Amino acid sequence: MLKKKVEDICNRQIEREGYSSNLYLAMAVWAETKGFGGTSGWLYAQAEEEREHMLKLIKFVNDRGGKAIVPAFQKPAAEFESVQSLFEEVLKHEEFITSSINEMVELTLAEKDYTTHNFLQWYVAEQIEEESNAKGILDKLNLGGKHNLYPFDRDLQRSRTEK
Ligand code: FEO
Repeated sequence: MLKKKVEDICNRQIEREGYSSNLYLAMAVWAETKGFGGTSGWLYAQAEEEREHMLKLIKFVNDRGGKAIVPAFQKPAAEFESVQSLFEEVLKHEEFITSSINEMVELTLAEKDYTTHNFLQWYVAEQIEEESNAKGILDKLNLGGKHNLYPFDRDLQRSRTEK
């Protein structure tokens, strides 16, 4: 049975993962309408992943005797300055999600909830990958991709289809 404090922080994370999904969906729409097919494909796939992160938490809360709350989400921005600033925002957002997961891990230790602590290890590992992916994309942009977005965009499309 989940303690109330743990249930509450899981519900907070359900909102954050769901918002992440909508944020990346909004970014995907922007990129698609600007003609960046590879970038939008990457972002649509990312939005799906975030929805899965949210669903995984919903199932966990319900399975452990709690009740997941399906929240309202803040409306994400519809416009982005550039592909570069968009990915800077992705990285900043993922760093925020990492700190959010870390707070959950700390709480589960303080509450001696080792089951939830163990469950969260998947998210800890996932965040290493999420941050590293965003950093890798920004590196490519800084290496010259931002001056020639066509090959950058095409490569990004490939990176998803090869997965
Ligand atoms: Fe579910 Fe990108 O963190």
